[in-house]
Amino acid sequence: MKNLLISLIVSAGLMSVAHAGDAEAGKAKSATCAACHGADGNSLAPTFPKIAGQGERYLIKQIKDIRDGNRQVPSMAPFVAGLSDADIADLAAYFSAQVPTTGGAKAELVELGQRIYARVLKAKVFRPVWHATVRMAKALTPLASHALLVSTMPTLRLS
Ligand code: HEC
Repeated sequence: MKNLLISLIVSAGLMSVAHAGDAEAGKAKSATCAACHGADGNSLAPTFPKIAGQGERYLIKQIKDIRDGNRQVPSMAPFVAGLSDADIADLAAYFSAQVPTTGGAKAELVELGQRIYARVLKAKVFRPVWHATVRMAKALTPLASHALLVSTMPTLRLS
C-alpha cells in the first residue's frame, strides 16, 4: 500500500514535468509562422522580428504571452491562439536551434548599440537592467532604441 502510494506520487510528479521541446515536431508546426518570420525564423521584413537562434525559454515566454494576451500582437494572435503549451515548446526548440543571420543593423548605429550593451553587461544585475534599459531607450529616443535592438539582437540571447 505504501509502495503504491509512493509510486502514484512519483508518477503524478513526472506527469507534471514540462514537455521538453522537440525541434523536429516544431519544424512541422512552423509553417504558419514562416509567412511572417521566415521559414527558419530569419524574417526578411523589418516589421517582423527575427526569432532564429533566440533563447528557448525567451521564445516560450513570448509566444505564451502573445497567445494569452499578456503581450499584444494583434496580427499574430490568431495564429497562436490554438497552440498548446507542448506545441509552443516544440516551436521554441525549433526556432532556437536555427542560425540567426545578421545584416539588419544600420552601420552607423552599431557602435552606439554596442556601447549601450556593454554598459548593461557591466552592471551585474543583468536581466532587470536589460529590461529597464530597453524601456528607457524607447522612452528617451527612438534612435537609441533602434540602435540597441538591432545591434545586439544577433549576439544577445535572452534566457
Ligand atoms: C501575421 C504575421 C505573424 C505570424 C503568422 C506570426 N507572427 Fe510572431 N510576430 C509577429 C509580429 C508583428 C511580432 C512582433 C510584434 C512586436 O513588435 O511586438 C511577432 C513576434 C513574435 C515573437 C516575439 C519575438 C521577440 O523578439 O520578442 C515570437 C517568439 C513569435 N512572434 C513567434 C511566432 C511563432 C512561433 C509563430 C507561428 C506559430 C508566429 N510568430 C506567427 C507577426 C507574426
